[in-house]
Amino acid sequence: MQIINSIMHMQALAIAPERGGRRISFVPTMGFLHEGHASLLREGRTRGDVLVLSLFVNPIQFGQHEDLDRYPRDMDRDCRIAEACGVDIVFIPTAAEMYPAGFQTGVTVRDISLPLCGSSRPGHFDGVATVVAKLFNIVRPDVALFGCKDYQQLAVIRRMTADLNLPVEIVGMPIVRESDGLAMSSRNAYLSPCERQSALCLSRALVKARELFGAGERSVPELLLATRGVIEQESRAVIDYVEFRDGFLLSEQQVADGNTVLALAVKIGQTRLIDNCVLGEEL
Ligand code: PAF
Repeated sequence: MQIINSIMHMQALAIAPERGGRRISFVPTMGFLHEGHASLLREGRTRGDVLVLSLFVNPIQFGQHEDLDRYPRDMDRDCRIAEACGVDIVFIPTAAEMYPAGFQTGVTVRDISLPLCGSSRPGHFDGVATVVAKLFNIVRPDVALFGCKDYQQLAVIRRMTADLNLPVEIVGMPIVRESDGLAMSSRNAYLSPCERQSALCLSRALVKARELFGAGERSVPELLLATRGVIEQESRAVIDYVEFRDGFLLSEQQVADGNTVLALAVKIGQTRLIDNCVLGEEL
């Protein structure tokens, strides 16, 4: 496994004649890998000849008062996991090289970036779209894999890739959960044992909504009431948003269908967690 820090080196390998017809599959991450990332890497391994993982905590997708400085990092452990998953190249650029003095270009995906996390974290998806566009230009992947836990992020990246005619196939992979239902996330590392227990209210809320939907409930106001109720029973939980939206356009809905996504963002102590499910799909 090769570790590459320089953008020019990574790009040179990706466009070198020696690449021949070899397909590059790419898993962009901010590191502190967990089983969710490992599932992307294992799938990526089957979809390409060369598997590239990027580890980059992207400063421009964090707001001023967010957790950029304390975002968990462990490069050595990440590299061991990468090796075990069959990664060929780990690309670890520096922020100074990604955003040198004078940098002033950004990618904005308009409407679907605005609700949900876009409303709580203004500018977040501009940061995500910009870094992913840059990484695509550097790594030149044929296929890139992202987790569905960041549902809106995946929608934004799909839109950007289509709108800018980027020649990359985007693959969304199912959410990986702990045995008790908590969706895997690097931010789970912030939770104290008590908070870890409280965080289960997110997956409990998803189960409740799916049960009601399965029993025939289609009224979004009714589904919302029941879902919020589950989270509000947990004293440590502070709701950022609970929303039922069209799974493709992320537009508001009053009547749910099988493509409706239930998206949650809830603060447990200082830690903001997100989760989601599509009502017509298995959890
Ligand atoms: O999901 C993430 O880890 C990040 O948002 C991404 C896509 C790697 C961009 O920094």
